[in-house]
Amino acid sequence: MAVKFVSDMAETPGEGDPGGPYFNKERTKCSPDEEARLERQHFWRIIDAFRFYRVHIQEQVKRAERQFQSLPQRHQNLLPAVQSNLARLSKCADHNQEVLQGIIHNSIHMFENIEYGEREDPRKARPSSTFDMDKLKSTLKQFVRDWSETGRGERDTCYQPIIQEIQRLFPSDQYDVSKVSVLVPGAGLGRLAWEIARLGYICQGNEWSFFMLFSSNFVLNRCEKVNSLTLYPWIHQFSNNKKSSDQTRPIRFPDVNPQSLPLDSDFSMVAGDFLEIYTEPDSWDCVATCFFIDTAHNVIQYVETIWKILKPGGVWINLGPLLYHFENMANELSVELSYEDIRTVMVKFGFRIEVEKESVQTTYTENDRSMLRYVYDCVFFVARKPGDLYFNCQEDDQQQNSPPAAKSPRREGTDCLT
Ligand SMILES: C[S@@+](CC[C@H](N)C(=O)[O-])C[C@H]1O[C@@H](n2cnc3c(N)ncnc32)[C@H](O)[C@@H]1O
Repeated sequence: MAVKFVSDMAETPGEGDPGGPYFNKERTKCSPDEEARLERQHFWRIIDAFRFYRVHIQEQVKRAERQFQSLPQRHQNLLPAVQSNLARLSKCADHNQEVLQGIIHNSIHMFENIEYGEREDPRKARPSSTFDMDKLKSTLKQFVRDWSETGRGERDTCYQPIIQEIQRLFPSDQYDVSKVSVLVPGAGLGRLAWEIARLGYICQGNEWSFFMLFSSNFVLNRCEKVNSLTLYPWIHQFSNNKKSSDQTRPIRFPDVNPQSLPLDSDFSMVAGDFLEIYTEPDSWDCVATCFFIDTAHNVIQYVETIWKILKPGGVWINLGPLLYHFENMANELSVELSYEDIRTVMVKFGFRIEVEKESVQTTYTENDRSMLRYVYDCVFFVARKPGDLYFNCQEDDQQQNSPPAAKSPRREGTDCLT
């Protein structure tokens, strides 16, 4: 089953390049034509980043070679395999580039409702910034998390708690799950959304990064044969390797056939800024956020939007840390609230917190052989927009233009049978 990709990118800041036109959220509004031009420029900038990868990695490999060759000969003689290891790195980069070419080959016309046309000046393919190269390297690691057997453990800790809650709250023996709608904002490479759709729920992933969108389109719509493709996602890590071969070990993907969704599945991906696209009140039975809420400039806006778009009785399921993406970025609004403060805001909006775990240990795109490993001590919660509070909330909202406080007792489970 093909997964529909729709773009709603207008006015989307996308992956900001410091100083670039998409960087400043408060940038001056421009005409629709200018918006379209900037959007096209942004699209081609990311395509160029995919194309530039090999050159960028080869520069790093050459630098490593130069450094080693600058050592005294007697030191170099101690490690005759270093040169061949570096040659292997180079080959792995060439291979990664082939996969990246496959991804962009399938990206140019990927959206059902928009074509990005030709680049304004085809001669202007410039070297990409370090910022874009870092994004691309992270995207490669995202393949491990979402679509490889190696990532299974990580997915079990991050995605399974969310999936299990969806199944507990909307069990297939009590609900027609094909009418239960789940939105996954910041869907990354789409695995969580795909798993939810596989269980029969209506599921829509939303994502604004072209790095992620190009790659998820490739996996979801162009990959069929299990473990038929190879990537070398760790070649960019020059430090903290126990063995040289750890740096060049492959991962295979996809670990499942992404096209094996039932034919009647309702699964889509929408490109664009979550805050700008999802404005329709009372639309979703469930919003599932995983490693997402800390991407906000103002996380209260996320809480407000999720409150608004959930149907009365709908639930918000969240798992993730609070590694605020815009912290320390010049010229960017970034409000770094503690979980305690976010919780206060949620309760003031009227959310009823039904499940809460403040210490769920997970990793994110972990290199399991690295000598440096991060563990996130995540919060996990299920918060309900109560059905019985809704009318009070609407009134309060209109009268005071501020969120209502939770007042009435909670209604269990049956609020949003669809
Ligand atoms: C840390 S990643 C998590 C991805 C995925 N949920 C996972 O757990 O692997 C956050 C994702 O949110 C996306 N994102 C950030 N801000 C967004 C926004 N305003 N609208 C849509 N997506 C956004 C980023 O591009 C990124 O892919």
